[in-house]
Amino acid sequence: MTDRYAVIGHPVEHSLSPAIHAEFARVTGGDVSYGRILAPLDGFRAAALRFRDEGGKGLNVTLPFKPEAWQLADSHSAGAAAAGAVNTLKFEGGRIAGHNTDGIGLANDLRGNLGCPVRGRRVLLMGAGGASYGVMEPLLRELPLSLIVANRTEEKAKALIGHFEKLSAELGIRRFTWLPYDRLENGPFDIVINATSAGLTDAMPPLPRRVFASGALAYDMVYGRTTPFMKFAAGCGAEVADGLGMLVEQAAESFYIWRDVRPATKAVIARLRSGQ
Ligand code: ATR
Repeated sequence: MTDRYAVIGHPVEHSLSPAIHAEFARVTGGDVSYGRILAPLDGFRAAALRFRDEGGKGLNVTLPFKPEAWQLADSHSAGAAAAGAVNTLKFEGGRIAGHNTDGIGLANDLRGNLGCPVRGRRVLLMGAGGASYGVMEPLLRELPLSLIVANRTEEKAKALIGHFEKLSAELGIRRFTWLPYDRLENGPFDIVINATSAGLTDAMPPLPRRVFASGALAYDMVYGRTTPFMKFAAGCGAEVADGLGMLVEQAAESFYIWRDVRPATKAVIARLRSGQ
């Protein structure tokens, strides 16, 4: 019998997840179907439960439903619990397990695809919204030398640091704090990650030029467009990556959670990049 999965969101029509999971199913040889569900903004819970009751095995959850998916889940992985958001639901025997694979996807992309592991590096994470909460726990577990959060709004930056301070201390991260953008020029940073929503409106966080260390990687979680941050970073001599690899890696982690099989990702990323 075909195992059914889907991505649920609003909007959802441009999601690449169906193409990615179709490729995973092909290379792993599973009998899998993967659709997309456009849920009304006030109808996430009903749509997710309907899919489950019709035999669905799992859902990927995208914006704006990740916090609601957290509420729907009966249990939470460590990453989901820390993030307060769920992007992967697994339906198993009447119970609903909630996971968050975004941060693992980012860490795996940095380490496995880009040859730029977080371990021992000076990391700057821009933004203190949902995207930053989603990736923080796995980023810290990669053991950066330091992790600085930059954000325009002080209270949001402080709340993010406060939320993860205990974990960072337990892990022995040497420096875990926030800074306003105009105090970043003392950097420099080896990895600069854009987790703000600025690129979606063609804007850019107010970064000083001297933020990048020699050979630094500038990583934008957005994919499918060259953001002002990516252009700025390239102009400063940094290596630049978009979030396509993270997207595929988080999907691979979801696939693994559902099916206990880890699909290879490099060829899938290459194929999506070349538009095939
Ligand atoms: P979500 O939770 O969906 O990620 P959010 O809470 O609005 O959305 O967070 C978006 C993040 O992008 C915030 O950190 C925001 O900064 P502020 O907290 O200072 O508002 C950041 N952001 C959005 N546009 C930005 C811009 N042009 N420059 C810098 N940061 C920006």
